Amino acid sequence: MIKLSRLSTDSISGILSEALDFANGKVVKAKSDVFVANLFFEDSTRTKVSFEIAEKKLGLHLVQFDEKKSSINKGETLLDTIKTLEAIGINVAVIRHQQTRYYDELKDARLALVNAGDGVGHHPSQAILDLMTIKQEFGDFKGLKVGIVGDVKHSRVANSNADTLRRLGAKVYFSGPVDWFDEAMLVNGTYLSFDNLLKEVDVLMMLRIQHERHQEKMKLTASEYLKKYGLTKEREKKMKPNAIIMHPAPINRGVEIDGDLVECKRSRIFKQMSNGVYARMAILKYVLEKQSFEFEEIK
Ligand code: CP
Repeated sequence: MIKLSRLSTDSISGILSEALDFANGKVVKAKSDVFVANLFFEDSTRTKVSFEIAEKKLGLHLVQFDEKKSSINKGETLLDTIKTLEAIGINVAVIRHQQTRYYDELKDARLALVNAGDGVGHHPSQAILDLMTIKQEFGDFKGLKVGIVGDVKHSRVANSNADTLRRLGAKVYFSGPVDWFDEAMLVNGTYLSFDNLLKEVDVLMMLRIQHERHQEKMKLTASEYLKKYGLTKEREKKMKPNAIIMHPAPINRGVEIDGDLVECKRSRIFKQMSNGVYARMAILKYVLEKQSFEFEEIK
């Protein structure tokens, strides 16, 4: 599996440029048969549907895989499942899994693998669509100030975005409950109080509370969390005039963000979702070209 953290900034820029071309109407199709399976062992709406649309737009053959009805339930390992799909003729597998670094056990796989999110690890396709959204807005990352706020510790979105944004020249700031912040993240940015961060940043990325990854139940009520750590209407007024609001979604309206701000003028949240299709087209094309598959542009 090609890791976003190992991709050069030139390669990342190339993927972003291709994603932007797709958003502007560029059409490419695979020149030969390419079979793809999406394996989602964890729930998803955006990532799963946008990968499916991306695959269809690229002319790939999508083969249905139902995790709940697969032989994983008879004890087959993920590696044997992938090797089986490979033997049958699948060329690329898109995988979301609750286990962080599930891909470590797939080193023997020869087919192309795309990570659609691993536990608290990484969410590279989300990072690419987020970067694409920022690039559309600001053109460049150098010197741009990006705040990542909320449940940073349990967020694979925060991991993928912070590292990539820093490497591309952005300044990254974090905020949120200190219990949900891992000091290891300080290699990528600075921790600030939310009210100080708000005044600084050009991009404010709010994060969902990852209840499913917590050991203990949250002690604060939704409205207490919003007041203390969330983006309220009062806080939104303190943002820089051209600053934008992002959120990977799903959104808990009235928890990490006031429900009315989800569609406010600054919000790019639904734009991020639209960009997800184009970002995933660019990722699939990049990964498949590394496997010597070819695409042709349709004029
Ligand atoms: N942002 C994101 O990964 O959403 P889904 O869980 O709905 O795919």
